[in-house]
Amino acid sequence: MIDRIDALAAEGERAFVAAASAADLEAARVRYLGRKSDLTQVLRGLKDLAPDVRGKVGARANEIRQKLEESFAAAEARLQTAAPETARDVTLPGRRPPIGHPHLLASCLREIEDIFAGIGFSLATGPDVEDDRHNFGALNMGPDHPARAETDTFYLNGGALLRTHTSSVQVRVMDAGQPPVRIICPGRAFRNEAIDATHQVEFHQVEGLYVDRDVSLADLKGTLDYFLKSFFGPKTEMRFCPSFYPFVEPGASVDIRCFFCGGSGCSVCGPLSGGWLEVLGAGMVHPNVFREVGYDPERWTGYAFGVGIERLVILRHGVPDIRMFLENDVRFLRQF
Ligand code: DAH
Repeated sequence: MIDRIDALAAEGERAFVAAASAADLEAARVRYLGRKSDLTQVLRGLKDLAPDVRGKVGARANEIRQKLEESFAAAEARLQTAAPETARDVTLPGRRPPIGHPHLLASCLREIEDIFAGIGFSLATGPDVEDDRHNFGALNMGPDHPARAETDTFYLNGGALLRTHTSSVQVRVMDAGQPPVRIICPGRAFRNEAIDATHQVEFHQVEGLYVDRDVSLADLKGTLDYFLKSFFGPKTEMRFCPSFYPFVEPGASVDIRCFFCGGSGCSVCGPLSGGWLEVLGAGMVHPNVFREVGYDPERWTGYAFGVGIERLVILRHGVPDIRMFLENDVRFLRQF
């Protein structure tokens, strides 16, 4: 009797180890552990045995049953964790590991830097945390200048502030060296604004500054026309409109013809715009700014411009909401 149980145990063990699929394993379970299995029959028949053998056979049968249950559990775990060799299709294409790429804003910034590098502008940077002079004072905004109140500035302890534009870098560059100057300053700017689809408290700008002898408004126009055509495409139309910025005279806001509607008016450019989209501010450097940094305004002339990067990218790529740039939703980021 004991020999028969041992033989059953060995057979059952082999079946569990060999099971290559859930179906195999279930069949083996029914055969060796099920209600009608030989082992169950033996356990049921114990009561008919003579009392002296009953104890021995019973103990052995229970021991074996436990062992088989353990092998069954082990086989089940094995099948769940490892896909069986037979189910592997080596002809299927592999899965590509996800690879990151630059953020849309970062790649557009690089592109803008490249466009200006191609016409001789070098890169300059300055700190995000500024002082009053670099952000306002030296840019022809005295303590009581009304233009100061127009920017909602984040002030830090001790009078420091988060720069409200990258124009502050102009001042740093001119403080540090003599003309000629031909630079762009890409970077972050901050304003305490109510956040909505077109306003964010943190955004990016590229400031440009060109100082030399006999620089004219025509040079500024030519440079910006080249830049806008490079960024938006060769058919881009541009216009200058008179505008006021304290650090330039004359100042202009620069528009491009709406490329969504071609100028007839649409939801992007708005019904009152006449089909034009404002994309940047620019002008001829104010003599007071030159005086502040020790440049002789009789000798030097220059132009400056400031571009909001988010606005350019929103227009070119049709991004519906400025907040998407900072939300880090991969479904958005992956599209670019
Ligand atoms: N700093 C301005 C702003 O943040 C942009 C600007 C306008 C920069 C005219 C300039 C400029 O250099 O000439 O709105």
